[in-house]
Amino acid sequence: MRVLGIETTCDETAAAIVSVERSGEIKILSNEVLSQIAAHAAYGGVVPEIAARAHVDAIDRIVARAYESAGLAPGEIDAVAAAAGPGLVGGVMVGLTTAKAISLVTGKPFIAVNHLEAHALTARLTDNLAFPYLLLLVSGGHTQLLAVRGVGDYLKLGGTIDDAVGEAFDKIAKMLGLPYPGGPSVEREAAKGDPERFDFPRPMQGRPNPDFSLSGLKTAVRLVAERIAPLSDRDVADLCASFQAAIVDVLVDRTRAGLRGCAAAGITPSALVVAGGVAANQPIRRGLTRLATEAGLSMVAPPLHLCGDNGAMIAWAGLERLRLGLVDDMGALARPRWPL
Ligand code: KG4
Ligand code: ZN
Repeated sequence: MRVLGIETTCDETAAAIVSVERSGEIKILSNEVLSQIAAHAAYGGVVPEIAARAHVDAIDRIVARAYESAGLAPGEIDAVAAAAGPGLVGGVMVGLTTAKAISLVTGKPFIAVNHLEAHALTARLTDNLAFPYLLLLVSGGHTQLLAVRGVGDYLKLGGTIDDAVGEAFDKIAKMLGLPYPGGPSVEREAAKGDPERFDFPRPMQGRPNPDFSLSGLKTAVRLVAERIAPLSDRDVADLCASFQAAIVDVLVDRTRAGLRGCAAAGITPSALVVAGGVAANQPIRRGLTRLATEAGLSMVAPPLHLCGDNGAMIAWAGLERLRLGLVDDMGALARPRWPL
């Protein structure tokens, strides 16, 4: 069973083909990602109109490449899936329309995938993980703790009441004059800095509910940066390191509260999973690994190239849904907001 997956919700135009063999073996046959970073860098963030046009320009080429690198002729698939949201509506419509057209031409089923569900299920693509598991989903637009009980069955334990973690990284980077996207820039600077030079707050730490709040931390960084300006390279590195240390502490503490939330709901997770673009951050991965060990759980994080947005995760979520007979019709709409 082979599924083509298309992802266009933000600033990556991506297409991939994932298969499940008769033996049950899962294979990523191709995974093409075209990043629009260069097109948005000058603006310090994603410009929706530029993103939508860039998706239109690239999508046919990227889909063709996904077939080519899989060694397949166009149409040699069993279904086509596209992320139908949440995300920037112009981009979503490009991927969705393309997938519908492919479905109509090939006569193969079409699956409208929730982008967050795709991040949530990636651990099953890479690690064949059994349900249920505790998921920390951390991306540019979302920060949530979820008990993943099955395909389409998510118990939200907590979420952010203001900024998403990726958004906080991006804003700190912009504030400090570091290049977009902010997460990797801040991580790079932080590696050179002193995490103990500034004692930033750890918002919500110790609270029983596994919710997040990051705007106070962001403001604290801004106030210190303004106070010590002009900033030397050393200052920037120390600010990044101290900010990142606070984020790691917060994520570990909140995820610990998520584990308690699972227990309270009678859920015994098979593993602790981190997913979404921010899951690429090494200190965050290390912090969560320590927590998992402490809780006697294994820690699963996708390989780096599957943390950020990609087509393979959409193809995989499509496959998971297809196996359950969950297909969609041509009436499926782009959904800028689509909670899990
Ligand atoms: O999942 P994703 O690719 O797109 C969304 O669905 O949002 O996540 C992108 C976010 C951005 O905010 C980016 O700065 C952040 O993930 N990110 C990171 C790292 N790599 C990407 N944040 C922290 N450390 C990183 N290494
Ligand atoms: Zn994403």
